[in-house]
Amino acid sequence: MKIEKIRLDYEVYENPQEMSKIEQEIIRKSIEVTGKAYAPYSQFFVGAALLLENGEVITGANIENAAYPLCLCAERVALAAAESRFPGVAPAVMAVSVVYPKNQPAYPIPPCGACRQVLGESEARHGQNIRIILNGHSGVVYAFRSALDLLPFGFTPGVFTT
Ligand code: THU
Repeated sequence: MKIEKIRLDYEVYENPQEMSKIEQEIIRKSIEVTGKAYAPYSQFFVGAALLLENGEVITGANIENAAYPLCLCAERVALAAAESRFPGVAPAVMAVSVVYPKNQPAYPIPPCGACRQVLGESEARHGQNIRIILNGHSGVVYAFRSALDLLPFGFTPGVFTT
């Protein structure tokens, strides 16, 4: 028996001004789109802004339902909108912001496992990483090189034979 280790490198920005102009812009759009969330049950308003390789920015917000398991996460709403409008264009960078007035988290909120899985398949589909930028209310921002960095041992389409 031996123990293997997985190492995760990610960037921490104390000040988003250190980021590129385009990344600051998609962070701004992710905050803005939290205002379009439909989250009457959780009051947890999530916004995602996805920059595509062609320069388009597609946004999405979480859309809830009285049948709770049907709630749609902002990340997957944005990704599905992008994949259906521009199916051949690789997503490059996704910024995510959260507004939760009842107990606003200061630090960045990571995407749920289902969103990591779906973002990971988009990376595999397009053969390109999606940089994930998580915007915290305190001004701290985390940036990850890839959605699959957040999902070690994720289930990837490579398991199927063609
Ligand atoms: N939510 C997202 O939009 N993204 C995530 O990655 C985690 C959770 C939404 C789903 C639901 O509307 C609310 O946040 C509370 O779980």
